Amino acid sequence: MSRTVPPAQTVETRLKACAEDVAEKLNKFLTDEPRGAEQYRPQKLLDAMRHGVLNGGKRIRPFLMIETARMLGYEHPGVLRAACALECVHSYSLIHDDLPAMDDDELRRGKPTVHVAFDEATAILAGDSLLTLAFDIMADEKTHYRAEVRTELIRGLAQNAGIGGMAGGQCLDIEGEGRNRTEGEIRQMEQMKTGALLRFACEAGAMLAEANAKERAAVARFGTCIGLAFQLADDLLDVTATSEQLGKTAGKDAKAEKATLVSLHGIDATRDELNQLIAEAESVLTVFGSKADILSATARFIATRKS
Ligand code: IPE
Ligand code: IPE
Ligand code: MG
Ligand code: MG
Ligand code: MG
Repeated sequence: MSRTVPPAQTVETRLKACAEDVAEKLNKFLTDEPRGAEQYRPQKLLDAMRHGVLNGGKRIRPFLMIETARMLGYEHPGVLRAACALECVHSYSLIHDDLPAMDDDELRRGKPTVHVAFDEATAILAGDSLLTLAFDIMADEKTHYRAEVRTELIRGLAQNAGIGGMAGGQCLDIEGEGRNRTEGEIRQMEQMKTGALLRFACEAGAMLAEANAKERAAVARFGTCIGLAFQLADDLLDVTATSEQLGKTAGKDAKAEKATLVSLHGIDATRDELNQLIAEAESVLTVFGSKADILSATARFIATRKS
């Protein structure tokens, strides 16, 4: 890692330092210079990719990956690369999520969305190019010296971003607009559209650290709990926060007639479930002792975040 942060610092301070590292590294991946086999990079597309990824996201997924690997005793510059690859996929998912054909949003991370700042075709292509850049970064031997580990990361990222993960969940989300959904359908959709990439963030940390099966199982369980918790918090913030606080349009779910666990059970019951998920996430981590303090605090941050 380019920066060593003393453990006494709060999660927010560590997250901020991590976000700076991620932005700096992503900026390097997205300079004017063609990479590897690339011949030429169209400037407009590069600018749109930069707009979509270098725009002040919280970088919670990179943070989870880096801190999971660190908890398991693995610190190497390759972890930041893998973390950036995941952030490229997440940022692509947001660019496409905001498109008129999907959530039709004009504000993201406090700035105009990519299709507003550029145009729809460029936003689609910027998403496509960030998605493929992620695999380019993962496949590089600088990410991990062992080819087996790189293959595992690539496969995990593909499966969690694709039809059985984020993209599949987005499909269920859009399909469910304007109609009643069962609780089971909503949970399935939320685990896929958001939970999959968050769980993968943690699992990838364990892959990079070449953790044993018991450690991996605990990390995966932790990732599943915070993955669902993260979307519950997002759905709560959608009804309780302002667009200014969120940097994205508040009140979208009700407007688009999206059934969420909040619309089904109400704010208080959803907050209770969120707290239960965090308690479970923290209890899963007890096997790692005090090494898990940061991840534990990150779980609490996910539940109490204001944006
Ligand atoms: C927003 O994710 C979309 C969801 C999956 C709920 P984040 O809340 O992590 O957004 P950024 O990356 O910080 O902008
Ligand atoms: C998005 O869920 C999940 C993604 C896979 C991008 P939302 O549509 O609720 O995310 P926001 O609220 O626009 O960030
Ligand atoms: Mg959406
Ligand atoms: Mg949206
Ligand atoms: Mg939302």
